[in-house]
Order: sequence, then C-alpha cells, then structure tokens
Amino acid sequence: VKQDNYYKDAILSYPVYLGSDLWNVTGSFLQPFILQGNAFLLADTNTQEFCLPLLKKNIPGFENIPAFILPAGEGSKDLAQFGKILKWLMVSGASRNSLLINLGGGVVTDIGGFAAAAFNRGMKYINLPTTLMGQVDAAIGGKTGINVGGVKNQAGLFYDPLAVFILPEFLETLPEEQTRSGFAEIVKCAALAGKGAWEIVKNSSFTDKQALFNLTGETVKFKCKVVAEDPFDLSSRKMLNFGHTAGHGLESFHISLGRKDYLHGDAVAAGMICESWISHETAGLPGNELEEITELIISAFHPDPIEKKHYSRISSFMDYDKKKTVAGIGYSLLEKLGKPVLGRTVDRDILYGSFDYYNNVITK
Ligand SMILES: NC(=O)c1ccc[n+]([C@@H]2O[C@H](COP(=O)([O-])OP(=O)(O)OC[C@H]3O[C@@H](n4cnc5c(N)ncnc54)[C@H](O)[C@@H]3O)[C@@H](O)[C@H]2O)c1
Repeated sequence: VKQDNYYKDAILSYPVYLGSDLWNVTGSFLQPFILQGNAFLLADTNTQEFCLPLLKKNIPGFENIPAFILPAGEGSKDLAQFGKILKWLMVSGASRNSLLINLGGGVVTDIGGFAAAAFNRGMKYINLPTTLMGQVDAAIGGKTGINVGGVKNQAGLFYDPLAVFILPEFLETLPEEQTRSGFAEIVKCAALAGKGAWEIVKNSSFTDKQALFNLTGETVKFKCKVVAEDPFDLSSRKMLNFGHTAGHGLESFHISLGRKDYLHGDAVAAGMICESWISHETAGLPGNELEEITELIISAFHPDPIEKKHYSRISSFMDYDKKKTVAGIGYSLLEKLGKPVLGRTVDRDILYGSFDYYNNVITK
C-alpha cells in the first residue's frame, strides 16, 4: 500500500513500513506502550550510540524506556545473553502485554525476537532494523534464534513481530563493509526474482544512497511475498537459502577461527559463487548466467580464498545445517535467473569442485 510518504506492505499478518520519514508513524504506534510504561528496548553498544539518539530526538517519551544493551557482534547471539535478557525483562516488570523494541541488526532482532517469544510464553515485539542486512532480510519473516556452541541458529522459533519499521536514516552511520554485507542478500533476492530485478541490481551501486533505498524497497517486497507464501519455510521459502548452505559452512568455519571481520554477507556472497557453479553443473544454470553472478559478486565483494586443507572442516560444519535430512542437505539452487530449484542433494566431490571454481575465479 503506497501512503503519502511511506510504503506499507500488508501481505504478511503484520505491517512492514518503509519510508524516508517514518518517525510519526513509528511514534504513533509506540505511544500507547510508552504512556503505560510498557515498552522495553533491546539494543547493542553501537545502536545505543548511533541509533538510539535519533529515536530519543524524534519520538516523545522514548528517553525513559528501560533498555538492555548487548555487546555488539555475533558473539552476543548466544545462550548466555538470551538468559540475561529474560532475567532483565522479569526484574524490570515486563509482562505478556509489554512490547520489546528491537533496535539493531540481525543479531539484535534474532535474539530479541527469540527472547520475546520465550518471555512469559510470548510477549509483543517490533523490529527497528538498523543494518542493511536487517532491513532487507533479518527483521522480516519471523525467524528468531541464537547460535549454540558457535553453530549458527541452532535454537529458535518462528515468532512474528507486531510490525517492522524500516528507517533508512539509520544506515547513515553504518560502516561500508556492513552495507556490503547486506548487499549480498539484495543480490540473492534479485537472482531469485528474475532477469528484470537482476539487471537493476547489476547496474546499481550500493554506495549510492537513493539507489540503495530503491533496492531495499524492491528486496523487502520480494521477501514479504516469499514469506507470505510459505511462512514456516516448508517449501517455496527455502529458495531464500540460495548461497546459504555453503555460506553457513564458511561462516561457522570463520567464526571457529575467531575471525570477527568475516561477515554473514561475505559468507553468503562466497556461497552464491559456489552454489551458482553447482547450479551450472547439476541444475542447468546457463554458463553466461553463472559468469554474470560470479562477476557481480567479485566486483562488489573481496572474497577470501578457501584453503584446500580446510575443505573437509567447512563441509563438516555444513552437517549441522538445518536443511539436512537423512538423504543429505537440500540445497536451493538455480535452474536460471528467476527459477529456483529446491531440495537438491549434492555430492561432496561437487561441493569441493565448487570450492575449486571459487578459488579459481577470485584469483583471476
Ligand atoms: N532471522 C533471519 O531471517 C535472518 C536473516 C539474515 C541474517 N540473520 C542473522 O543476522 C545476523 C547478521 O545481521 P547483521 O549483519 O545486521 O549483524 P549485526 O546485528 O551484528 O550488525 C552488524 C554490526 O553493525 C553495527 N550496527 C548496527 N546498526 C548500526 C548503525 N546504524 N550504525 C553503525 N553501526 C551499526 C552492529 O552493532 C554490529 O557491530 C546473523 O546472526 C544472521 O544469522 C537472520
């Protein structure tokens, strides 16, 4: 639904607002909770510094909301912090009718959504995503969760927010590598959406603010549509896993090395190169489309080589993949741009072949 100055997607059971001047809309939504002392804020150290002041400035009463601040970073998406959030909600007097406001990137919205689902068997929450990754992906779709023992997203629930408010103003303080990380999900959605979307992304730059705003809008609409068709990820939503099977293996591997500069989007970008090659070998993705995907990713990202001696370790991290069944991991691949194929199992040799292809093309 196009309103005066914002777009509201009502295709899901909750609204997703996107616009360049959403303060009034967000403020009106929050007012009843703020007036009853029933709003609670979850942020991290960076969003406390960079984003909270904007809310305090633009939304009356926001300065008095009790807040829990996580240390910034993926390391906070764990059981220890999850327990602390629940305890804080309890001692702060929250109830099922209270509202948790998640102000942050995917880490805050994932763990905050999970805490909201668990607290008193389910309190209300909203997401105010402050990273590009959050705005185009993590904040939408009701997937919440935490990592367990360093393995990504091992515990979690589907639990929808009351609403999502996407304010592009937050992106102004986001470091470039974080914007690039979110761009990986934009590229993924364009590859899944088809030639038209692909051409637009191919010809845009994520460093151009207006272009990024437009791409965000298109990606949000695409994600809402895919989630609405299959909210619990039983069938067609699995297409969104394109790039994420190899990607999660790479991400878990880099987390295990203690590398903090290897971002989710870096892993997804590398994963998309590998899985495009697998798509070409096993699912009919035409060679020219494989080349286009590879080139776009290499031009926007700085992919790291994957050392041969680590292939098996990366593959063993993939064994924890949620997409695994007795038959093996079900990959989401591409038959061509805009035509995903789901649930494909892939031999280890093919996976290793995709790592070889990846190493080859990134060093060209
Ligand atoms: N639930 C889902 O559907 C879903 C989808 C995609 C990703 N995820 C999860 O999201 C996480 C990654 O999300 P992310 O990339 O947003 O990471 P993140 O939340 O760690 O944010 C990245 C960094 O940017 C900082 N930051 C956030 N907003 C800022 C701002 N406006 N200005 C300056 N700094 C800011 C954060 O403090 C952090 O240091 C992963 O855990 C991933 O598994 C979940």
